[in-house]
Amino acid sequence: MNNIVVGITGASGSIYGLRLVEELLRAQKQVCLLLTAAGRQVLAFETGLQLADQAEDCLAQLRGHFGVEKSLTHYALNDFFAPIASGSSAPQAVVICPCSMGTAGRIAAGLSDNLLERVADVALKEQRKLLLVPRNPLQSDSPGEPAAVVKGRGTDSAGDAGLLSKTAIG
Ligand SMILES: Cc1cc2nc3c(=O)[nH]c(=O)nc-3n(C[C@H](O)[C@H](O)[C@H](O)COP(=O)(O)O)c2cc1C
Repeated sequence: MNNIVVGITGASGSIYGLRLVEELLRAQKQVCLLLTAAGRQVLAFETGLQLADQAEDCLAQLRGHFGVEKSLTHYALNDFFAPIASGSSAPQAVVICPCSMGTAGRIAAGLSDNLLERVADVALKEQRKLLLVPRNPLQSDSPGEPAAVVKGRGTDSAGDAGLLSKTAIG
């Protein structure tokens, strides 16, 4: 299976998430892109890309943006019936890029409250790769920091995504 879930949350650095999706699609991967509500807001602020609220409209818009068809899927974050929510069709890997402290904390605590967090839970349960790309550094001992996810639930974590502002990405 070559399918990868990419999550964009409300941390700064949404351009990294978009670029990741671009590269995965270029590498012929099947990509499912999920965005949190805050992720959509920060994406619009940082990149100007305003996504439709309805999942079907959003999917059409995303496919147009990336210039692909069936290789890209998308679900509403409250769609717990989406196939990726089930252990029997768990994705090969889940990458949350950028990953907010809120999402990291909820995954660390096992408090999955939306489809993205559920899919991260499934990845842990099914021992698939779960990669978090936080903007904030990992060295803090605060509860909910990605370090807690790594230590507490055996999760892989990438380095921090670096500070991006609207100005920095033009
Ligand atoms: C412009 C902007 C930038 C933000 N950057 C970060 C960030 O880098 N890291 C973070 O943890 N939260 C950041 N936040 C706050 C999150 O969006 C907020 O905590 C949100 O509840 C996260 O929700 P989510 O985990 O469901 O995406 C930012 C918010 C805004 C409006």
